[in-house]
Amino acid sequence: MKKWAGAVLGAAAVSLLTVTAYSAELDILKPRVPADQIAAAKAMKPPFPVNAAIIAKGKEVFNGAGTCYTCHGVGGKGDGPGAAGMDPSPRNFTNHQFEQVRTSGEMFWVVSNGSPLQPAMVGFVSAGQITEKQAWEAVMYERSLGCGGDMDCVAGGADWVSKQPVHEESASNLKPEYIGVASLK
Ligand code: HEC
Repeated sequence: MKKWAGAVLGAAAVSLLTVTAYSAELDILKPRVPADQIAAAKAMKPPFPVNAAIIAKGKEVFNGAGTCYTCHGVGGKGDGPGAAGMDPSPRNFTNHQFEQVRTSGEMFWVVSNGSPLQPAMVGFVSAGQITEKQAWEAVMYERSLGCGGDMDCVAGGADWVSKQPVHEESASNLKPEYIGVASLK
């Protein structure tokens, strides 16, 4: 093989890696809810019994009024067109480890108020784009993508999460500037 061909292939392999790895999705172990509100957020529960009909409504919100798919992707992998160049990138909800460390109440808090680590993830409820009920429905749909048919996992209460194994994210997935952010305002 000629030298230049190797270089071209190498470059192609590198760009392929950049495109396929969701390496900029950050730190699932770091709570997004500020310390003074996290206990209350974890204690929140969906305001309805969670079932397939609720998940279907959440899918409508995700792909409709909430426009969540534009960043999180139609399959919820964090790879929508709006995700291009976003750092940290949108959450990949198909990663079961995420549902194991995050309660649904914490997710609802972020959909309501936005992420303190990523201004692109705005508070859709506080901005008036969707109602609290729609936010809960969207969160149930998002969790179903990583939970399969396990409704305890989809409901994602603190009692369920506390029984799950803690997964350490690989060091390569963590960016120093997001580790130990002293105080989330
Ligand atoms: C403009 C792009 C964009 C749109 C639209 C968007 N998100 Fe996000 N979302 C993000 C990004 C980026 C993150 C990662 C934030 C972070 O790492 O803190 C995120 C993270 C999240 C999280 C995880 C927060 C956590 O605890 O780690 C939830 C839940 C979420 N989004 C729900 C939604 C819902 C529901 C909608 C639609 C109503 C939505 N998002 C629409 C960009 C978006």
